[in-house]
Formats: sequence, structure tokens, C-alpha cells
Amino acid sequence: MSKKQYRIAVIPGDGIGKEVMPEGLRVLETAAKKHGVSLHFDHFDFSSWDYYEKHGQMMPGDWKEKIGKHDAIYFGAVGWPAKIPDHVSLWGSLIKFRREFDQYVNLRPVRLMPGVPCPLANRKPGDIDFWVVRENTEGEYSSVGGRMFPDTDREFVTQQTVMTRTGVDRILKFAFELAQSRPKKHLTSATKSNGISITMPYWDERVEAMAKKFPGVKWDKYHIDILTANFVLHPDWFDVVVGSNLFGDILSDLGPACTGTIGIAPSGNINPEGDFPSVFEPVHGSAPDIAGQGIANPIGAIWSGAMMLDHLGEKVAGKSIVEAIERTLAERTLRTKDLGGNADTTACGKAVADMVD
Ligand code: NAI
Ligand code: MG
Repeated sequence: MSKKQYRIAVIPGDGIGKEVMPEGLRVLETAAKKHGVSLHFDHFDFSSWDYYEKHGQMMPGDWKEKIGKHDAIYFGAVGWPAKIPDHVSLWGSLIKFRREFDQYVNLRPVRLMPGVPCPLANRKPGDIDFWVVRENTEGEYSSVGGRMFPDTDREFVTQQTVMTRTGVDRILKFAFELAQSRPKKHLTSATKSNGISITMPYWDERVEAMAKKFPGVKWDKYHIDILTANFVLHPDWFDVVVGSNLFGDILSDLGPACTGTIGIAPSGNINPEGDFPSVFEPVHGSAPDIAGQGIANPIGAIWSGAMMLDHLGEKVAGKSIVEAIERTLAERTLRTKDLGGNADTTACGKAVADMVD
């Protein structure tokens, strides 16, 4: 039994974020109790339209002091486009966490769960089980560039990809370490060095250099175009896939899409050194189209809670949640509408909590 008490900042945000979060907490509390993990939750109402309406900003000025010392942040979803533009709400909250807490790893599992209809033909649970590791702070998503001669024939725009040795090496190190910890010990790198002839050969060079430090890990690389095709045609080939910010962004949506509904996909925005808290959140957004109806699938949020426990070092408790999700989905009785069932959000959350052991 671990003696440490973990302090978790809980931010439900907008829309279905508010509906799935109580179920995530329910399952976390159950798993924590069963496995002797001590969790303390602090709840925050900022990073939401409701907060913005009252205060004219997405977060208080001292948001960093409020949540920067927590062991992790458990997040629902932010965004309410009918009331506030996404670039204001997301850049005023979630993107600030990623940048200012140096969460340079975006991590998503790609796993076909039992009982979930797979959009790819003839695939069964066990066939698809890998991780996408996306660089989350630099690369193609830089703010270096500009526009000149606007509204003239000479108008031009430019935006520079920025790859630093520190930035590339640290994401590769994380990915190789993850591969080394897995039975297949296999890493795939996404590149495009045949077309992007400066930064991508550099990325490849750093992969080769990092691979030398991990002799037990087999590795390969594919150009991003054929790699996306292989995600669909041969998802069983992959174990850990690492990519730059743009390539990782594409792969981390495509991967989970190959395994079914967005409602179950989890993610982590991670600062591996623990200098800052990491954020764990479902991949989906606030889903205004179904918000308030109590029908959202809570499994993406619940699974994100499992990733959070794993990150905190509470591997057994984390695994107990993933297994509970698998059993709940396999039984096919208490599933939400997006999976063809008629259970509501609470019934599904309670079912997963009951399955935790
Ligand atoms: P969305 O993920 O909220 O919804 C896309 C579709 O999937 C909708 O039809 C929705 O009903 C369905 N869906 C999503 N999660 C579900 C769940 N748990 N159970 C059942 N069905 C589910 O994406 P959308 O509509 O593009 O964005 C809505 C808002 O969320 C926007 O403001 C957007 O910026 C924001 N957003 C926030 C994210 C975050 O907080 N990390 C991520 C993605 C979008
Ligand atoms: Mg994306």
C-alpha cells in the first residue's frame, strides 16, 4: 500500500465534460479504495463558458498557483462554440496548460476493446494494441513566420517548422522507453524525409542516435503517407509510434478512429519529469449536440483516469480500471447510445465501477 496522498485538480469544463467527470471520479475512487491508493480531489470551475460569463476570462490570473502544485490534472472538455469562439476558450485554458506546464508528450492508446464494433474488417480484440506518442510543443506548430505584402500580387505567407535537439531528443527518449517497457519492444517513427528535406532528415538522424541507446528495441520508420495507409491496412504491425507535432496529431486521431467510437478514447498531456502536473482528459470535446441529455459515453474520461493512475506510478490500480472497462464493454449490457445501447452516462459509469477489482 502506498503511503503517499496524491492531490488531483479536477476541472470538468463545458458540456458533457460536466457529465462524464462524476463517472470518472466514481471509478477512480473505487479503484483507489480497492488498491489502497489515497487520492485527494480539488474541484475547479474555471476553464468553462460558465466561468467566462461571470469573469470575462477563461481562468483566474493565478491559475498556475491554483493548480500548478497538484500531482495531476483531471480534465473533462472545454468549448462552447455557440457562446464563445474556440480559439478564445481553448487557447485561454487547455493550450495554456500544454504550453506553460511543458507537457511535451501527447500520449494516446490505440486499442480494440472487446465488444466494440471495429470499423476495420476482420479485426478482433488483441489485433490492435499500440500507443501513439506525439511531440506536443514544437515542430510544425510554431509561431515563427508571417505575412508580407498583404492584398497585393506579392502577398506571401511563411511558417517555419522548429525542431530543437532538446525537443526532438526528449520525445524520442520517452517513446523508446515506452517501447522498451512493452513485450514487443518495437518502435515506429513517422517521417517524410523524402519531401521535407531539412527537418525530417534531422528527425531521422536523431531517431538513429537515440536507437543506439536502446539496443533492445527494434525500430523502423515509414513516410507519413504510407504510414497512415498501414494504420488502416496493418494495425497489428505497431507497438509504439512516435511522430512530430503535425504527424502525431494526424496519427493520434486516425489510430483511435480505427478502433471505434471517440467516446471511449483517452489521452494524456504529459510532462514526464514531473516539473509540472500532467493533464489527463478524454479525446472528445464538449459535444454540445448531446450535452444535457445524460447519454454521453463516460468511458473516455474513465480510461483517462486509469492513465493518470499509471502516470502517478499506481500501475495496479490503473490496470484494474482498464480491465473493468474491458469487462463492461464485453458484456454489452450497459453501454451508451454511441455504442448502440440505451444505458445512460451514470448507469455506464456505475457498471464500470462495479467491475473494478
Ligand atoms: P466533440 O468530440 O465534442 O463531438 C464530436 C461528435 O462525437 C459529436 O457528435 C458528439 O456528440 C460525439 N461524441 C463526443 N464525445 C462523445 C461521448 N463521450 N459519448 C457519445 N458521443 C460523443 O467534437 P466537436 O463537436 O468538434 O467539438 C465540440 C466542442 O468541443 C468545440 O468547442 C471544440 O473546440 C471542443 N473540443 C474540445 C476538446 C478538448 O477539450 N480537449 C477536444 C475536441 C473538441
Ligand atoms: Mg487533433
